[in-house]
Amino acid sequence: MKIIIINGPNLNLLGKREPSTYGNRTFDDYFKELIAQNRDLDLYYFQSNAEGDLINKLHEIGFSFDGIILNAGAYTHTSVALRDAISAIQTPVIEVHISNVHAREEFRHHSYVSAVAKGIIVGCGLEGYNLAIQYLLSLKK
Ligand code: DQA
Repeated sequence: MKIIIINGPNLNLLGKREPSTYGNRTFDDYFKELIAQNRDLDLYYFQSNAEGDLINKLHEIGFSFDGIILNAGAYTHTSVALRDAISAIQTPVIEVHISNVHAREEFRHHSYVSAVAKGIIVGCGLEGYNLAIQYLLSLKK
């Protein structure tokens, strides 16, 4: 089973960026743990700060992978193009946010991704990515 985690802008700074909101662990460190916990999966990771690169990646893998776990960062709240890309592909997308966006500023309460996502996991910290994997696995059973 092929699953990819796609992280959007500023998520390359996890570990350094606003640790009180996003924790002090790097994603690379967490990703190693995810691989160890899910050895029977083909787990991939892609991060970009550029909206077009995220869309290109969705197009590239969205007809062959079994699941996409997408944290689009701030593009969640702004990008119609990202929403259209998710609608255009076949692979189910689980939207993940590390922080509880609904407990934060008003502009974070709206997501262009949510209406086209298969599921949404919000505010569970990095563990949200693992919860998304377990859910994608359950879809295959
Ligand atoms: C985020 C929440 C977004 O509002 C923010 O722009 C991010 C990270 C999260 O994971 O909590 O970059 O997606």
